[in-house]
Amino acid sequence: MQRANSPDHSPSIFERADRVLPGGGFGNFDPGIFIARGKGSRVWDTEGKEYVDFLIGSGPMLIGHCHPEVVEVVNRQMQSGQTFFANNPQGLELAEEIVTSVACAEQVRFVSTGGEADMYAMRLARAFTGRDKIMKFEGGYHGMSGEALMSLFPTAPADYPNAIPDSAGIPASVRDNMLIAPYNDCAYALDLIEKHAQDIACVIVEPLQRIVPPAPGFLEALRQATHEHGIVLIFDEVVTGYRLAYGGAQEHYKVVPDLCTLGKIIGGGLPLAAVAGRPDIMVHFDKIKAGADKFTLQIGTLSGNPLASAAGLKTMEILRRPGVYEKIRAHGHTIIAALQEHLSAAGVPHQVVGDPVLFDVVFTDSPVVDYRGSISGDASLEQRFNQLMREQGVLKPATKFYVSLALTANDMDQTLAAIKYSAEHLLSG
Ligand SMILES: Cc1ncc(COP(=O)(O)O)c(C=O)c1O
Repeated sequence: MQRANSPDHSPSIFERADRVLPGGGFGNFDPGIFIARGKGSRVWDTEGKEYVDFLIGSGPMLIGHCHPEVVEVVNRQMQSGQTFFANNPQGLELAEEIVTSVACAEQVRFVSTGGEADMYAMRLARAFTGRDKIMKFEGGYHGMSGEALMSLFPTAPADYPNAIPDSAGIPASVRDNMLIAPYNDCAYALDLIEKHAQDIACVIVEPLQRIVPPAPGFLEALRQATHEHGIVLIFDEVVTGYRLAYGGAQEHYKVVPDLCTLGKIIGGGLPLAAVAGRPDIMVHFDKIKAGADKFTLQIGTLSGNPLASAAGLKTMEILRRPGVYEKIRAHGHTIIAALQEHLSAAGVPHQVVGDPVLFDVVFTDSPVVDYRGSISGDASLEQRFNQLMREQGVLKPATKFYVSLALTANDMDQTLAAIKYSAEHLLSG
């Protein structure tokens, strides 16, 4: 945390934040840093320090900050209006591009945040099946609804399939309708589905959970079991959509869910997210076709707003250009190799977990295949590593590296040098 006081005794930005923001911040990230601006692969804090950015706005800025082509279309759209509530051509075009590129997406409903998209996807599954129970995986992140906040970051994990709320203020009735399973444990998941099949509306899963990739056959097994029992399979692709591949995790892993949720990249850095999927499920958003009893009400002031749609469409156009994903993956591979090399040389127990587009180090000797594995690492080493990286001008989320297309050779040199330095100084602090 950097908390310099102003030399003229006026309150520092941190003191001002402590006064008006609970916890001194927005609740998202370390309140000890305020980002003033970003350009390409880099951000600058309010004290003028420059960083190579692996936070990338928690994922949306895959092509870098202020990409000139995105800025141009957003500026142009600003001349024609920010938001209308009514349908607009940019939103329609974005929906068409999602339908073209995402395997499960035959229809699209826009919302403003990934968490909203997940909440509606779960509700839609309940409307479609007439069942109440939701199965999710321990450590799976699906926004901030009551359901999503069950066994998200439990510090004292319960016995499966019991859920633990991660937040105050959620009625017990929400918990009672949840079934929690360990990610990547096929046998457990299939058994749970078998036992509760008549009550389960949906299985919701991050196809790559946080940074943990699916074990071979895991997603396929979920697909088959949910199909057999008429359970809706929801892939939360808020992170993986347009990142693991243009068509998301469902393209990358070749498993197609019934519904998916998208966010982050599709809004090009502006607030926009979506539920997409099979028309016989999406029809519940249509009052006339679904009928009053089965209708799932969904309205949002900013849903599908044209600025975010324009930014998302241009971002996606850039991602479709030749070599883009190869470049992002190549950078990820290089960083992963450097982490392995330098942490091994320094004798630090570690696992690099993830995919080249999205990964991190877990400071443990044991392979990490689920949530309990991912919290088994040495948290103080993790914190110190992140701090050393930050001191070397590399900004990353607490438990991720998000690789961006904007990284230059210079950024890579600085990042690799920071990794070497941090590995060498990790145990001496
Ligand atoms: C997998 C996943 N789903 C849903 C969300 C929620 O998205 P939002 O923060 O836009 O509500 C996130 C946010 O990081 C996420 O990582």
